[in-house]
Amino acid sequence: MKKALVVFIALGILVFALSSMVVAEEGDPQYIGSAKCKVCHNAEKKGAQFSKWEAGPHSKTYEVLASEEAIAAAKALGIDNPQTSDKCLKCHVTAFGVAAELKAESFDQTEGVGCESCHGPGSEYKSLKVMKDQEAALAAGLIIPTEETCVGCHNEESPTYKEFKFDEFWAKIAHPVPEEAEAPKEE
Ligand code: HEC
Ligand code: HEC
Ligand code: HEC
Ligand code: HEC
Repeated sequence: MKKALVVFIALGILVFALSSMVVAEEGDPQYIGSAKCKVCHNAEKKGAQFSKWEAGPHSKTYEVLASEEAIAAAKALGIDNPQTSDKCLKCHVTAFGVAAELKAESFDQTEGVGCESCHGPGSEYKSLKVMKDQEAALAAGLIIPTEETCVGCHNEESPTYKEFKFDEFWAKIAHPVPEEAEAPKEE
């Protein structure tokens, strides 16, 4: 009886170990944090996406949960600390609800709504070779966001909801690559 139980438990552990190996093998992309994108996306002539993000509202969405306004809004909902409540973090940090093993060590939710909130987890598309090939980047998890991405957070579930008008809101956070940087290089 006892021996059978030991074998049973050992088998259980083996199956568990194998199944977690399968997950790792699939190479699901990990969230790596916006600082990893800065390396290539902060040159002025390429649009300085990182600096624009850093100066904009989305880099402060975690911080803002410590404000008096946040604490008051939370209190009305019976929440003590917005920075630890799922009810607030849900829309105020990147990768909310994502399994811990899909967050790299370089990822830190205090960065707020980072690049990967809209563009998808970057571990598999961040290499120069993949990034330069749009098809490969999309296959590796890159997302080209649309209005739908925004409305995932900009909706009436937000306790401070302001009517979301895509064109108006997008204009405030746009970070295009300037056209002359995209034109073929003249030698
Ligand atoms: C090793 C350099 C490098 C890193 C790191 C990098 N990128 Fe890129 N990325 C590029 C290059 C090169 C392009 C091609 C366009 C260009 O020249 O700017 C590009 C293009 C893009 C595009 C436009 C895709 C398209 O086809 O419209 C997005 C969006 C993007 N990157 C997001 C990110 C995000 C988010 C991160 C961090 C998770 C990141 N990149 C990290 C080099 C990089
Ligand atoms: C993961 C959730 C999330 C997504 C996705 C998201 N946002 Fe936001 N956004 C926020 C939060 C949270 C704030 C509040 C920041 C603050 O006030 O400190 C915010 C603030 C803003 C603001 C400033 C609003 C103001 O009142 O000044 C603009 C503009 C904005 N977002 C545009 C967009 C656009 C455009 C998209 C889609 C391309 C988008 N956001 C996608 C969470 C998100
Ligand atoms: C459904 C997504 C969502 C949830 C859930 C959410 N927020 Fe927000 N929050 C936003 C967005 C988007 C903004 C930008 C302003 C708006 O609501 O349109 C924002 C802005 C804010 C602001 C800045 C004030 C302002 O007027 O811009 C505070 C403070 C805030 N949220 C607190 C909280 C607290 C506290 C909770 C939890 C009780 C919470 N939020 C839950 C999406 C959300
Ligand atoms: C709130 C959502 C959001 C965040 C956060 C965000 N982006 Fe974007 N990004 C977009 C949208 C929307 C587009 C336009 C997609 C399109 O071309 O239709 C875009 C476009 C881009 C492009 C292509 C620009 C072009 O003209 O081809 C690059 C590169 C890029 N983002 C990099 C970044 C980097 C790097 C970060 C972080 C520092 C970042 N983005 C953060 C939503 C976001």
